[in-house]
Amino acid sequence: MFEKFKTPAELIPSDPRFGCGPSLVPMKYVESLAKTGPHLIGTSHRKKAVKKLVEEVQTGFAKYFNIPTGYQVVLGNGGATLLFDMVALGLVKKKIAHFTCGEFSNKWYKSSKAVPWISAQEISVEVGNGILVNDVPDADVICGTLNETSTGVQLPELPKVHEGALLAIDATSGAGQVKCDVSKCDVFLFSPQKVFASEGGLWIAIMSPKALARAKEIYEDKSRYIPAILSWKEAISNSEKNQTYNTPAIAPIYFLNEQLKEMNKLGYSKVCELAEAKAKLLYSWAEAKPYLSTYIKEDKFRSRAVATIDVDAKYKVDDLIAVLEKEKSVYGIDAYRNLGRNQFRIALFHNIKYEDLEKLTKLISLAIEKY
Ligand SMILES: Cc1ncc(COP(=O)(O)O)c(C=O)c1O
Repeated sequence: MFEKFKTPAELIPSDPRFGCGPSLVPMKYVESLAKTGPHLIGTSHRKKAVKKLVEEVQTGFAKYFNIPTGYQVVLGNGGATLLFDMVALGLVKKKIAHFTCGEFSNKWYKSSKAVPWISAQEISVEVGNGILVNDVPDADVICGTLNETSTGVQLPELPKVHEGALLAIDATSGAGQVKCDVSKCDVFLFSPQKVFASEGGLWIAIMSPKALARAKEIYEDKSRYIPAILSWKEAISNSEKNQTYNTPAIAPIYFLNEQLKEMNKLGYSKVCELAEAKAKLLYSWAEAKPYLSTYIKEDKFRSRAVATIDVDAKYKVDDLIAVLEKEKSVYGIDAYRNLGRNQFRIALFHNIKYEDLEKLTKLISLAIEKY
């Protein structure tokens, strides 16, 4: 199916990358990194050049998210997945509660459940639905996922949790363009290879004073063994010095900083507005075409970062995706692998141009309607 389809020249997007992560790293960042020559890559992360870069990233986030005084931008190596374990081992006193609605939120719950000396509760909805996070009175950490990347579900609002609880939000694929008041979170964590256009391997956690105090309290409980690589104490004290605990890859920090500078020129509200327009383009296209439908039915849960669009079973999306990949015009629009749906999952990340999304919708429609 679709073997004969060829994208017309006027519909070839200016960049083929529409994947949900890793995402589109602008080539101009790669080129400007090369221009730093021998003065950055291959130099020590304990020396000025790299520390300055880390500091710029930290102040860049503080500005972008307008984080209150006393909050700290902590970073380290290992991606958000490592943070799942760090939260369970180093921030939970007795009980953690997870609100789950897909693969990533469930994966986080599973990490917590594996720690024998804490209890973990899962509050879930069937995959394909949205979920609201609520206070859980007997939990001391409450977790939600800002943007469930596997299904394209976003969290429309944050709850107020009780005094003894930390609100931890995994914002990996939504951070930066799904609206969220970071000052209401105690731990706002993410990897930077999505909206922030970097590469994988790094993690960022924006922590409230309450979360910083909790990390200290758990660390001082000497009955707990916490491996140094998972230690909040090491991560926090190194971040205070604009460093990471162990050696980082410099390129992802560099790309992240370039992207933050660009996004700070626009500001968080404007970036969210642009994301809203892209989401409207995709979802109204899906609603207008008889062979398409939005996977997430309730608009408030529909992601402004990752659009999931079901396709009539008559048209095999995998066949079209294979043709587009082969002609190198479009990459990464397949559904999350474990969902097993005849679906397109398309990133709306900041660097993916509105005009390119428009071309993508037109070329998919052309392929299906020609068939
Ligand atoms: C919502 C969410 N959480 C966590 C992760 C894991 O991030 P990493 O692979 O950087 O550890 C991902 C990756 O796509 C994600 O989408």
